[in-house]
Amino acid sequence: MNHFLSLDQIAGNELRNMLDQARVIKDARNGQPKGTKDADAPLAGHVVALIFEKPSTRTRVSFDVGVRQLGGESLLLSGQEMQLGHGETIADTAKVLSRYVDLIMIRTFEEATLQEMADNATVPVINGLTNDTHPCQIMADLLTLHEKLGDMKGRKVVWLGDGNNVCNSYFHAAGQFGFDMTFCGPENLQPDMRAVEFARERGVNVKISENPEEAVKGADLLVTDTWVSMHDAESARQRRHNLLRPYQVNADLMKTAGTQAYFTHCLPAHRNEEVTSEILDGQQSLAFDAAENRLHAQKAVMRWCLGV
Ligand code: CP
Ligand code: NVA
Repeated sequence: MNHFLSLDQIAGNELRNMLDQARVIKDARNGQPKGTKDADAPLAGHVVALIFEKPSTRTRVSFDVGVRQLGGESLLLSGQEMQLGHGETIADTAKVLSRYVDLIMIRTFEEATLQEMADNATVPVINGLTNDTHPCQIMADLLTLHEKLGDMKGRKVVWLGDGNNVCNSYFHAAGQFGFDMTFCGPENLQPDMRAVEFARERGVNVKISENPEEAVKGADLLVTDTWVSMHDAESARQRRHNLLRPYQVNADLMKTAGTQAYFTHCLPAHRNEEVTSEILDGQQSLAFDAAENRLHAQKAVMRWCLGV
């Protein structure tokens, strides 16, 4: 079963093939109106369930539009409106949904919930974000980076701020695609050390730093994300802001990085917190290209899952 759960669990060549296909899929649309189907409509006759236990704009819309353009049908489901949000187990939900649909995408809290869904589903499951990982975002980022930089092997990526779910998936991608990976943030907000080890074990040049000016020099990409993720306690907001403020991506830091450096952010951004508007909207920013590429990359992911 081709579940798309985490970038450390899928063979590197499979990920590479998905990105190659994403490029073909993107090129083939070639300015077609958004409402038209892709010529080959490979998901014709397929139904995809899109389950959200947390808010979403990009994941929700890009998957929904992607399924439609691939010729399939989608069901947008909120966890709270399902029995899932009222005590039914994830395992029973997985077994039942598998009788109706061909593919399940779920955005949830615990990684264990995602795993339980995959273990009990008889159709493929896609991770649309957990507290620990966000592989679909990184596939879109990799597609975007390839457009600007080509092969990522030996490139230098610097993550600034909170070592969160998106950051963990960057470490997985570093291990699979061979780019150098620096985490620059407070000691008590470091990424999951299992993700860091995954990269290290594959020979990645990993650095952990608390000094942004030093960390970003000569980088090919600076990445950051919100200081408070959807699963973080609201009561921790002020403490996190105080801890993370020194890692803001702004014009001074971008200048230190150099004119070769790109910037990206998975969005939604909190303007003038983790990144200034000047940088997010500036010439070095790839954030909105990456948001578009969610659509193209996830089409390739869905086709891989279904083998179509
Ligand atoms: N980047 C991302 O996953 O955005 P959404 O939360 O809007 O889906
Ligand atoms: N780290 C963020 C990503 C949102 C797409 C969160 O989990 O809220």
